[in-house]
Amino acid sequence: MAGEDWIDLGASAELSTMPLRPVTARSTSIALSYRDGEFGAVSNTCNHVGGPLGGGTLDGDYIVCPWHAWKFHRRSGAGEPGFEDDCVPSYPVKVENGRVLVNLAAASKRNRKPHAAHPLTRDVTRAPGKLRLAGISTTVMDPGLPRFSGSDHLLDAALTEARTLGAETQIIRLNDLKFRACEGYYSKGAQACTWPCSITQMDSTDQMDQVYEALVHWADAIIVASPIRWGAASSLYFKMAERLNCVQNAITTRNRVLIRNKVAGFIIVGGQDNIQGVAGQMLGFFAELGFIFPQFPYIAHSRGWSREDMERNIEVVRTSKELAEGASMLAKRCLDLAAHLIAQDEAPASIERGGRKAHLIDTDASIG
Ligand code: FES
Repeated sequence: MAGEDWIDLGASAELSTMPLRPVTARSTSIALSYRDGEFGAVSNTCNHVGGPLGGGTLDGDYIVCPWHAWKFHRRSGAGEPGFEDDCVPSYPVKVENGRVLVNLAAASKRNRKPHAAHPLTRDVTRAPGKLRLAGISTTVMDPGLPRFSGSDHLLDAALTEARTLGAETQIIRLNDLKFRACEGYYSKGAQACTWPCSITQMDSTDQMDQVYEALVHWADAIIVASPIRWGAASSLYFKMAERLNCVQNAITTRNRVLIRNKVAGFIIVGGQDNIQGVAGQMLGFFAELGFIFPQFPYIAHSRGWSREDMERNIEVVRTSKELAEGASMLAKRCLDLAAHLIAQDEAPASIERGGRKAHLIDTDASIG
């Protein structure tokens, strides 16, 4: 009969031992499933951005893509209810003489139907209005037993000054947000780490979207405040930074610069030393995202190596007019530069070679 091209995939006894796996028939990549005594075969390539469906999981008769959880019926290839027309090719399968055979010639057609885009994916254009400064507090503390935070104290001083200068402000305390640590989607595939973050797309309870919203869509300037912990920025700072990989990856994989004409400044306060080391990491990271820095982009204070009297350090930071003034001046420097950048609007919206990378980047985004 026309339209038959049966390929032997292997022994049924072996292939029925796993609910889902990727297999290759000639050069065609297939997600082969086995459930309730029945095999199913669909394309291994997800309609979204090409995730490997055979590496996903089964939710009933639906394959859940391991990259962003889109679902496709394991035998028909149809999208999940509501998205039936968003389908991947499916292949007839049969078992003969203990062998699993798949008919490549009778594949159904791939069809794409747009899914509702996450609100963060909207175009990044600055809404008119006053200058806007977002403060990001990264200090960790027990909300039931709060303590004085030197970095938060100076961040408050900076935001107060910004309001005095006529800017709008908002503060995001990472300690108040429930968000998952980066789960390394980039390591599954460059295209798996998308904007917005894979976790944000899959998990509506994850609150990192508040940081993305502020940094990418709302703020003209940000000030990130961190304590020094063992010579490094706080653990919450790094948890946030890892989740911001998707912002940088939009440049690397799609030549899309999300951060334009925006300024970053930093407040670094600690009982331990290594201010320049902490600042260097922060400057390097936020430069990668596309932020611009004012002259003298951070203020800092540290009690140093030789003392363990943090209770006195708290008093010093709490009462120091100089430190508070320093924070105010940092806010002014950030806002002045932001106003200048917005007026000029010269930041590129795209940059070849993933920004900092001098060599051409090979990220195969093709969907077969
Ligand atoms: S859900 Fe499959 S690639 Fe995104």
